[in-house]
Amino acid sequence: MRRSCLAVPASSERFIAKARGLAADEVFLDLEDAVAPSAKEQARANAAVAVGGGWGGRVVAVRVNDACTGWAHRDVLAVVSGAGRADVIVLPKVTSPDHVVWLDLLLGQVEREAGLPVGVTGIEAQIEDPRGLAAVNAIAAASPRLEALVFGPADFMASAGIRSLEVGGQPAGYAGDVYHYALMRILVAARSHDLQAIDGPYLKVRDVEGFRRSAVSAAALGFDGKWVLHPDQIEAANEVFAPSPAEYSRAVAILAAYSQATTVQARGAVMLGEEMIDEASRKMAAAVVARGNAVGFIPGQNTGTPE
Ligand code: GLV
Ligand code: MG
Repeated sequence: MRRSCLAVPASSERFIAKARGLAADEVFLDLEDAVAPSAKEQARANAAVAVGGGWGGRVVAVRVNDACTGWAHRDVLAVVSGAGRADVIVLPKVTSPDHVVWLDLLLGQVEREAGLPVGVTGIEAQIEDPRGLAAVNAIAAASPRLEALVFGPADFMASAGIRSLEVGGQPAGYAGDVYHYALMRILVAARSHDLQAIDGPYLKVRDVEGFRRSAVSAAALGFDGKWVLHPDQIEAANEVFAPSPAEYSRAVAILAAYSQATTVQARGAVMLGEEMIDEASRKMAAAVVARGNAVGFIPGQNTGTPE
Protein backbone atom coordinates (compact mmCIF):
# COMPACT_ATOMS: atom_id res chain seq x y z
CA MET A 1 0.00 0.00 0.00
CA ARG A 2 1.22 3.47 -0.86
CA ARG A 3 -1.37 5.71 0.79
CA SER A 4 1.17 8.48 1.28
CA CYS A 5 4.26 8.91 -0.92
CA LEU A 6 6.51 11.56 0.59
CA ALA A 7 8.59 13.70 -1.78
CA VAL A 8 11.97 14.70 -0.35
CA PRO A 9 14.38 16.88 -2.34
CA ALA A 10 17.60 14.86 -2.28
CA SER A 11 19.62 18.07 -2.31
CA SER A 12 18.72 18.57 1.37
CA GLU A 13 20.37 16.24 3.87
CA ARG A 14 18.28 17.86 6.59
CA PHE A 15 14.99 16.93 4.86
CA ILE A 16 16.27 13.40 4.23
CA ALA A 17 17.12 12.98 7.92
CA LYS A 18 13.71 14.33 8.94
CA ALA A 19 11.86 12.03 6.51
CA ARG A 20 13.22 8.93 8.29
CA GLY A 21 10.95 9.65 11.25
CA LEU A 22 7.74 10.37 9.32
CA ALA A 23 4.84 7.97 8.87
CA ALA A 24 4.65 7.94 5.07
CA ASP A 25 4.18 4.53 3.41
CA GLU A 26 6.74 5.47 0.75
CA VAL A 27 9.54 8.00 0.77
CA PHE A 28 10.97 9.08 -2.54
CA LEU A 29 14.16 11.05 -2.80
CA ASP A 30 13.75 13.50 -5.62
CA LEU A 31 16.54 14.12 -8.11
CA GLU A 32 14.21 15.74 -10.65
CA ASP A 33 12.17 18.92 -10.50
CA ALA A 34 12.78 19.78 -6.84
CA VAL A 35 16.53 19.93 -7.50
CA ALA A 36 18.22 22.78 -9.39
CA PRO A 37 20.52 21.74 -12.27
CA SER A 38 23.56 23.00 -10.38
CA ALA A 39 22.66 20.79 -7.38
CA LYS A 40 21.94 17.57 -9.32
CA GLU A 41 25.28 15.89 -8.68
CA GLN A 42 25.29 16.58 -4.96
CA ALA A 43 21.66 15.42 -4.73
CA ARG A 44 22.56 12.18 -6.53
CA ALA A 45 25.42 11.57 -4.11
CA ASN A 46 23.12 12.25 -1.14
CA ALA A 47 20.51 9.84 -2.51
CA ALA A 48 23.10 7.10 -3.10
CA VAL A 49 24.04 7.24 0.59
CA ALA A 50 20.52 7.75 1.91
CA VAL A 51 18.96 4.68 0.24
CA GLY A 52 21.24 2.58 2.43
CA GLY A 53 19.03 1.78 5.39
CA GLY A 54 17.20 3.18 8.37
CA TRP A 55 13.82 3.48 6.65
CA GLY A 56 11.85 1.20 8.95
CA GLY A 57 10.09 -0.93 6.35
CA ARG A 58 8.89 1.95 4.15
CA VAL A 59 9.13 1.69 0.38
CA VAL A 60 12.30 3.62 -0.48
CA ALA A 61 12.19 5.16 -3.93
CA VAL A 62 14.25 7.61 -5.92
CA ARG A 63 12.77 9.86 -8.58
CA VAL A 64 15.48 10.06 -11.23
CA ASN A 65 15.59 12.63 -14.00
CA ASP A 66 13.56 11.77 -17.06
CA ALA A 67 14.75 9.40 -19.75
CA CYS A 68 15.46 12.22 -22.22
CA THR A 69 17.95 14.02 -19.97
CA GLY A 70 21.69 13.50 -19.70
CA TRP A 71 21.38 12.78 -15.97
CA ALA A 72 19.05 9.80 -15.92
CA HIS A 73 21.44 6.88 -16.49
CA ARG A 74 23.90 8.03 -13.80
CA ASP A 75 21.02 8.62 -11.40
CA VAL A 76 19.94 4.99 -11.81
CA LEU A 77 23.47 3.61 -11.44
CA ALA A 78 24.09 5.61 -8.27
CA VAL A 79 21.00 4.47 -6.38
CA VAL A 80 20.87 0.82 -7.46
CA SER A 81 24.49 -0.33 -7.55
CA GLY A 82 25.99 1.46 -4.55
CA ALA A 83 26.22 0.33 -0.93
CA GLY A 84 22.48 0.89 -0.55
CA ARG A 85 19.70 0.24 -3.01
CA ALA A 86 16.39 1.91 -3.85
CA ASP A 87 13.38 -0.43 -3.85
CA VAL A 88 11.78 1.52 -6.66
CA ILE A 89 12.73 4.03 -9.34
CA VAL A 90 10.15 6.71 -10.02
CA LEU A 91 10.47 7.64 -13.70
CA PRO A 92 9.02 11.08 -14.47
CA LYS A 93 7.61 12.46 -17.74
CA VAL A 94 6.99 9.06 -19.30
CA THR A 95 5.59 9.83 -22.74
CA SER A 96 5.97 6.41 -24.35
CA PRO A 97 6.50 2.76 -23.35
CA ASP A 98 10.07 3.08 -24.70
CA HIS A 99 11.03 5.08 -21.62
CA VAL A 100 9.99 2.21 -19.36
CA VAL A 101 11.65 -0.39 -21.58
CA TRP A 102 14.88 1.63 -21.46
CA LEU A 103 14.76 1.74 -17.66
CA ASP A 104 13.90 -1.95 -17.40
CA LEU A 105 16.93 -2.91 -19.53
CA LEU A 106 19.28 -0.55 -17.71
CA LEU A 107 18.12 -1.86 -14.33
CA GLY A 108 18.72 -5.42 -15.56
CA GLN A 109 22.30 -4.54 -16.54
CA VAL A 110 23.00 -2.76 -13.26
CA GLU A 111 21.43 -5.53 -11.16
CA ARG A 112 23.46 -8.21 -12.99
CA GLU A 113 26.70 -6.31 -12.50
CA ALA A 114 25.92 -5.77 -8.81
CA GLY A 115 25.06 -9.44 -8.26
CA LEU A 116 21.44 -8.60 -7.43
CA PRO A 117 18.46 -10.71 -8.50
CA VAL A 118 17.32 -9.36 -11.86
CA GLY A 119 13.94 -7.69 -11.47
CA VAL A 120 14.35 -6.77 -7.79
CA THR A 121 14.00 -3.03 -8.49
CA GLY A 122 10.48 -1.79 -9.17
CA ILE A 123 9.34 1.08 -11.38
CA GLU A 124 6.67 3.73 -10.88
CA ALA A 125 5.86 5.65 -14.07
CA GLN A 126 4.67 9.24 -13.90
CA ILE A 127 2.03 10.18 -16.44
CA GLU A 128 2.21 13.92 -16.72
CA ASP A 129 1.48 15.14 -20.19
CA PRO A 130 -1.03 14.50 -22.99
CA ARG A 131 1.37 12.20 -24.86
CA GLY A 132 1.91 10.05 -21.80
CA LEU A 133 -1.81 9.95 -21.11
CA ALA A 134 -2.60 8.96 -24.71
CA ALA A 135 -0.10 6.08 -24.41
CA VAL A 136 -0.96 5.08 -20.85
CA ASN A 137 -2.21 1.56 -21.63
CA ALA A 138 0.97 0.68 -23.52
CA ILE A 139 3.07 2.27 -20.78
CA ALA A 140 1.28 0.18 -18.13
CA ALA A 141 2.16 -2.97 -20.09
CA ALA A 142 5.80 -2.05 -20.77
CA SER A 143 7.59 -3.89 -17.94
CA PRO A 144 6.89 -6.50 -15.27
CA ARG A 145 8.81 -4.20 -12.89
CA LEU A 146 6.00 -1.64 -12.94
CA GLU A 147 4.31 -1.28 -9.56
CA ALA A 148 2.35 1.95 -9.97
CA LEU A 149 1.24 4.68 -12.33
CA VAL A 150 1.47 8.16 -10.84
CA PHE A 151 -0.41 11.23 -12.08
CA GLY A 152 1.69 14.42 -12.30
CA PRO A 153 -0.85 17.25 -12.16
CA ALA A 154 1.64 20.16 -12.28
CA ASP A 155 3.37 19.07 -15.46
CA PHE A 156 0.04 17.91 -16.86
CA MET A 157 -1.55 21.31 -16.31
CA ALA A 158 1.43 23.04 -17.87
CA SER A 159 1.48 20.81 -20.95
CA ALA A 160 -2.27 20.49 -21.49
CA GLY A 161 -2.89 24.21 -21.10
CA ILE A 162 -5.18 24.00 -18.06
CA ARG A 163 -5.79 27.59 -17.01
CA SER A 164 -4.80 27.58 -13.38
CA LEU A 165 -1.67 28.04 -11.33
CA GLU A 166 -3.10 26.10 -8.37
CA VAL A 167 -1.85 22.55 -8.63
CA GLY A 168 -4.34 20.06 -7.25
CA GLY A 169 -7.12 22.67 -6.97
CA GLN A 170 -9.95 23.26 -9.42
CA PRO A 171 -9.61 26.22 -11.84
CA ALA A 172 -12.35 28.83 -11.82
CA GLY A 173 -14.67 28.65 -14.79
CA TYR A 174 -14.86 24.88 -15.33
CA ALA A 175 -17.94 23.26 -13.88
CA GLY A 176 -16.59 19.69 -13.63
CA ASP A 177 -13.50 18.11 -12.07
CA VAL A 178 -10.64 19.16 -14.31
CA TYR A 179 -8.58 16.07 -13.38
CA HIS A 180 -11.31 13.48 -13.83
CA TYR A 181 -10.46 12.34 -17.35
CA ALA A 182 -6.73 11.97 -16.71
CA LEU A 183 -7.24 10.23 -13.37
CA MET A 184 -9.82 7.82 -14.77
CA ARG A 185 -7.64 6.86 -17.75
CA ILE A 186 -4.71 6.24 -15.42
CA LEU A 187 -6.89 4.21 -13.06
CA VAL A 188 -8.23 2.01 -15.87
CA ALA A 189 -4.74 1.40 -17.27
CA ALA A 190 -3.37 0.65 -13.80
CA ARG A 191 -6.14 -1.78 -12.89
CA SER A 192 -5.86 -3.51 -16.29
CA HIS A 193 -2.28 -4.40 -15.38
CA ASP A 194 -2.56 -4.93 -11.61
CA LEU A 195 -0.74 -1.71 -10.79
CA GLN A 196 -1.40 0.80 -8.04
CA ALA A 197 -2.77 4.20 -9.05
CA ILE A 198 -1.26 7.15 -7.22
CA ASP A 199 -2.39 10.77 -7.39
CA GLY A 200 0.22 13.53 -7.53
CA PRO A 201 0.89 16.52 -5.30
CA TYR A 202 -1.28 19.28 -3.85
CA LEU A 203 1.06 22.21 -3.73
CA LYS A 204 -0.60 24.51 -1.16
CA VAL A 205 1.12 22.66 1.64
CA ARG A 206 -0.41 24.67 4.49
CA ASP A 207 -3.96 24.14 3.22
CA VAL A 208 -4.56 20.71 4.75
CA GLU A 209 -8.32 20.94 4.10
CA GLY A 210 -7.65 21.60 0.41
CA PHE A 211 -5.28 18.62 0.38
CA ARG A 212 -7.91 16.47 2.06
CA ARG A 213 -10.57 17.47 -0.53
CA SER A 214 -8.23 16.53 -3.35
CA ALA A 215 -7.28 13.23 -1.66
CA VAL A 216 -10.90 12.31 -0.87
CA SER A 217 -11.83 12.84 -4.50
CA ALA A 218 -8.98 10.63 -5.79
CA ALA A 219 -9.73 7.97 -3.16
CA ALA A 220 -13.43 7.96 -4.05
CA LEU A 221 -12.51 7.39 -7.68
CA GLY A 222 -10.45 4.34 -6.69
CA PHE A 223 -6.89 5.64 -6.34
CA ASP A 224 -4.63 3.91 -3.82
CA GLY A 225 -2.67 6.89 -2.55
CA LYS A 226 -1.28 10.34 -3.14
CA TRP A 227 1.98 12.23 -3.02
CA VAL A 228 2.59 14.28 0.09
CA LEU A 229 4.97 17.21 0.29
CA HIS A 230 4.73 18.12 3.94
CA PRO A 231 4.39 16.24 7.26
CA ASP A 232 0.91 17.78 7.75
CA GLN A 233 -0.34 16.03 4.60
CA ILE A 234 0.83 12.54 5.67
CA GLU A 235 -1.76 11.89 8.36
CA ALA A 236 -4.58 13.07 6.10
CA ALA A 237 -3.44 10.82 3.23
CA ASN A 238 -3.01 7.78 5.48
CA GLU A 239 -6.51 8.26 6.82
CA VAL A 240 -8.26 9.09 3.54
CA PHE A 241 -6.78 6.15 1.59
CA ALA A 242 -7.54 3.58 4.30
CA PRO A 243 -11.09 2.29 4.75
CA SER A 244 -12.95 3.82 7.68
CA PRO A 245 -13.68 1.43 10.60
CA ALA A 246 -17.36 1.46 9.55
CA GLU A 247 -16.53 0.54 5.93
CA TYR A 248 -14.19 -2.18 7.12
CA SER A 249 -16.68 -3.78 9.47
CA ARG A 250 -19.44 -3.61 6.84
CA ALA A 251 -17.08 -5.33 4.37
CA VAL A 252 -16.26 -8.06 6.92
CA ALA A 253 -19.99 -8.55 7.50
CA ILE A 254 -20.65 -8.82 3.74
CA LEU A 255 -17.97 -11.50 3.39
CA ALA A 256 -19.37 -13.51 6.30
CA ALA A 257 -22.98 -13.22 5.11
CA TYR A 258 -22.13 -14.08 1.54
CA SER A 259 -20.03 -17.07 2.53
CA GLN A 260 -22.93 -18.35 4.64
CA ALA A 261 -25.39 -17.72 1.77
CA THR A 262 -23.38 -19.54 -0.89
CA THR A 263 -22.18 -22.48 1.20
CA VAL A 264 -25.03 -23.18 3.63
CA GLN A 265 -28.04 -21.85 1.71
CA ALA A 266 -26.69 -22.44 -1.83
CA ARG A 267 -27.88 -18.94 -2.78
CA GLY A 268 -25.94 -16.43 -4.89
CA ALA A 269 -27.89 -13.35 -3.84
CA VAL A 270 -29.20 -12.54 -0.35
CA MET A 271 -30.30 -9.52 1.65
CA LEU A 272 -27.94 -8.04 4.22
CA GLY A 273 -29.85 -5.35 6.07
CA GLU A 274 -31.37 -3.07 3.43
CA GLU A 275 -29.09 -4.21 0.66
CA MET A 276 -28.97 -7.16 -1.68
CA ILE A 277 -25.51 -8.67 -1.93
CA ASP A 278 -24.11 -10.99 -4.58
CA GLU A 279 -20.76 -12.11 -5.99
CA ALA A 280 -19.85 -8.56 -7.10
CA SER A 281 -20.54 -7.32 -3.56
CA ARG A 282 -18.18 -10.02 -2.28
CA LYS A 283 -15.41 -8.78 -4.58
CA MET A 284 -15.90 -5.17 -3.49
CA ALA A 285 -15.91 -6.20 0.16
CA ALA A 286 -12.78 -8.34 -0.30
CA ALA A 287 -10.94 -5.32 -1.74
CA VAL A 288 -11.93 -3.16 1.25
CA VAL A 289 -10.89 -5.88 3.72
CA ALA A 290 -7.55 -6.33 1.95
CA ARG A 291 -6.88 -2.58 2.12
CA GLY A 292 -7.88 -2.50 5.78
CA ASN A 293 -5.75 -5.52 6.67
CA ALA A 294 -2.77 -3.94 4.92
CA VAL A 295 -2.94 -0.97 7.30
CA GLY A 296 -3.48 -2.93 10.48
CA PHE A 297 -7.20 -3.62 10.84
CA ILE A 298 -8.02 -7.03 12.25
CA PRO A 299 -11.35 -8.76 11.49
CA GLY A 300 -13.37 -8.92 14.71
CA GLN A 301 -11.45 -6.02 16.23
CA ASN A 302 -12.50 -3.69 13.54
CA THR A 303 -13.45 -0.54 15.36
CA GLY A 304 -9.94 0.68 16.02
CA THR A 305 -8.15 3.16 13.83
CA PRO A 306 -5.48 2.04 11.40
CA GLU A 307 -1.85 2.77 12.26
C1 GLV B 1 4.64 16.06 -10.38
O1 GLV B 1 5.70 15.68 -10.80
C2 GLV B 1 3.79 16.96 -11.10
O2 GLV B 1 4.22 17.40 -12.18
O3 GLV B 1 2.70 17.25 -10.61
MG1 MG C 1 6.18 16.59 -12.70
